[in-house]
Amino acid sequence: MRRILNAKPSITQREVDYVTDAAAHGWGLDCYGYLNRFIGEAKQYFDSELAWPTSSCHGALHMVLMALGVGPGDEVIVPDATWTGSVFPISWLGATPVFVDVKPDTWCVDPRQVGKAITAKTKAVIAVHLYGNLCEMDELVAVCNERGVTLIEDAAEAIGSEYKGRKAGSIADFGVFSFHGTKTLTTGEGGLILSHRTDLASKVTAIDSQGRHQGAKTFWVDEIGLKYKMSNLQAALGLAQLERAEELVQRKRETFHQYQAAFADWSDITLNPEPAGTLNSYWMPTVVFGPSYQPTVDQRNTWIDACVAAGVEARPFFYPVSDMPMYTDMPQNTVSRELSASGINLPSSYELTPDDVGYVVSTLRQAVRG
Ligand SMILES: Cc1ncc(COP(=O)(O)O)c(C=O)c1O
Repeated sequence: MRRILNAKPSITQREVDYVTDAAAHGWGLDCYGYLNRFIGEAKQYFDSELAWPTSSCHGALHMVLMALGVGPGDEVIVPDATWTGSVFPISWLGATPVFVDVKPDTWCVDPRQVGKAITAKTKAVIAVHLYGNLCEMDELVAVCNERGVTLIEDAAEAIGSEYKGRKAGSIADFGVFSFHGTKTLTTGEGGLILSHRTDLASKVTAIDSQGRHQGAKTFWVDEIGLKYKMSNLQAALGLAQLERAEELVQRKRETFHQYQAAFADWSDITLNPEPAGTLNSYWMPTVVFGPSYQPTVDQRNTWIDACVAAGVEARPFFYPVSDMPMYTDMPQNTVSRELSASGINLPSSYELTPDDVGYVVSTLRQAVRG
């Protein structure tokens, strides 16, 4: 049976060569060779002053929140429509996630709702660039600056997306990324922190070094730190991927445009938006069904099941995180709820051909028609 994967990275001889070299030679005096090259390439690609590679985006966010001193009694604002990876690190530190709704046009956090949700307890706002779509950064920066709150971009899903010419994840105080195997660029598992906050650099570096301060005597630890380091082997893979970032983002965009053409004769559906002044890297092409389909979660899931049965790995739009059993339900976040019931993620593996895209859309059409 034809099998169309939801995601699969693009691995060329360059990746194989770098990883092979790191495995053979990247030890001893060369144990940070690829890591240092990866950091240099990341700073250049994202145009960022500071960069710390990590073993995951979860870890990156945990480190940033810890560096900001987030703890019990603090609140951190986060969109309801996201993956739990944007939220768990808040809970790990004993702080409270405050779920706000997203906008129907961007699927990203609503800056006005953020403004309303900020209280004296708010330590940070996490803005998630969902599926490659861009948050309204000017508005978010303005509201966070005005209220004295740190802004963090979760750009796990938006590597290569741009807002007014600046790369997603390089605009706010901090940006965090994921290089999980499903992402636009991969290191297998992996992540990255970017920042321009030089005032907090030594704090992040100390946490990154398990609490050791720079210049301290060997094995002396000054504070409790974390251990989320990326390995030199992963950095070798990541360097090759970063060097191909333009090509890979271009490939994602081509796939999206093929979907756009294949859906051209459908009415009352929406695909990922690309408002003026933004460039969407379209990590995950996603279709949202309008009211004429009367979509419900169950109905949408039967369409996905039919696609999967036909070999098409479609997936549901994220459930609101506040719906999960460990958090408190937020029924007022109606946009997150509606998107969740009516959205389907489409395959965007790098192996996808234009013919595969046609097959995905015709399979979905059959599923929707029943
Ligand atoms: C928006 C978002 N944030 C965070 C994460 C967590 O990334 P990682 O798996 O690298 O920890 C993901 C992963 O899917 C994500 O989609």
